[in-house]
Amino acid sequence: MRADPLRFLDAELEALKQQGLYRRLRVLEDEQKAKTTFDHRQVVNLSSNNYLGLTTHPTLRERALEATRTLGVGSGSVRTIAGTMAIHMELERRLAEFKKTEAVVVFQSGFAANAGTVAAVLTKDDVVVSDELNHASIIDGARLSRATVKVFPHKDVDGARKILRGLPAGQRSLLITDGVFSMDGDLGALPELCALAEEFGCIMMVDDAHASGVFGKNGRGTIDHFDVHGRVDIQVGTLSKAFGALGGYVAGSRSLIEFLYHRARPFLFSTSHPPAVAATCLGAIDVLMQEPQIIDRLWENTRFFKAGLAGLGFNTGLSESPITPVIAGEGALAMKLSDRLFEEGVFAQGIAFPTVARDKARVRTIVTATHTREELQFALDTFAKVGRELGII
Ligand SMILES: Cc1ncc(COP(=O)(O)O)c(C=O)c1O
Repeated sequence: MRADPLRFLDAELEALKQQGLYRRLRVLEDEQKAKTTFDHRQVVNLSSNNYLGLTTHPTLRERALEATRTLGVGSGSVRTIAGTMAIHMELERRLAEFKKTEAVVVFQSGFAANAGTVAAVLTKDDVVVSDELNHASIIDGARLSRATVKVFPHKDVDGARKILRGLPAGQRSLLITDGVFSMDGDLGALPELCALAEEFGCIMMVDDAHASGVFGKNGRGTIDHFDVHGRVDIQVGTLSKAFGALGGYVAGSRSLIEFLYHRARPFLFSTSHPPAVAATCLGAIDVLMQEPQIIDRLWENTRFFKAGLAGLGFNTGLSESPITPVIAGEGALAMKLSDRLFEEGVFAQGIAFPTVARDKARVRTIVTATHTREELQFALDTFAKVGRELGII
């Protein structure tokens, strides 16, 4: 019998177990909502990116069902062959209007949007100047592009300036930051970085995955929040988090979008969304425009929960968004905190090295617009109990 050539993977998995980094997937047995059931346990859910509760919004649910009834379940092709349906074009038109840009291209995910765009726009002769905490999809896109990657310390605008100053005159470069950093919940230094991009003539790109539907008027993102419209050449947003469905998009000039139609590999070589996904995202735009009070509720809940955690004495870092880390320190302690919270009825995912620095392991909490005050108070009481038990507060 042939020896299994993948046997080495068992050793890799064993090493993860030894380092306490092996994670079993938690299984959601109900809908993705504020209080739900994972692994047979009912929990207050502080782990989803479902900021506005749109995964179960009646309008979105109805739009998905209607699109399935009238347009079927699949697009059947990549966008560039037979898979561009009228509803895909409608979504791109509506998103461009929403983002106040000339045009938008929709990808299958935010990951595909970031990686596909960076890899398409840059060549091996170019330079990417990237915040050290930027998302993995940006890093992968940069690797695929074969451009030189230069990393500046987190939010260190002077650090970015130093790198740009050291580049040869006329060097094409892309300056890139997350709008909201996914592990710490802090905001990218958009106004300062836009000024830098203007000074050095670089392409300015912002990954606004966690800001889409959360920051700015009607959830238009950090570009709107900081009022830097027209100063960010490439805006990436996601449809997978606050929008409640799935997908990513790039907003920018008509030329950028036309170019990505021709060169972005996930667009060219991977099948487009089922019509129900596009219809759901159109429904999400309608909800953001017609029910902006949902975003207000998200922020009221965010303020309440952050104040509660800080009042208990937890280290919650420098978050400015509904993402609030509860920093425990060492990886094993963060995982223990997460496990004990779960046993007590609160789901907040533990996150350790290499996703975050070794001494900054944490549980990450994300409140949503649809959490009730009672649910948030229960979560705070549980954090207090478990935090004291583990000596974190
Ligand atoms: C900062 C950031 N960018 C991009 C993505 C990818 O978005 P999506 O889940 O739509 O692929 C994520 C999500 O994990 C993210 O946190």
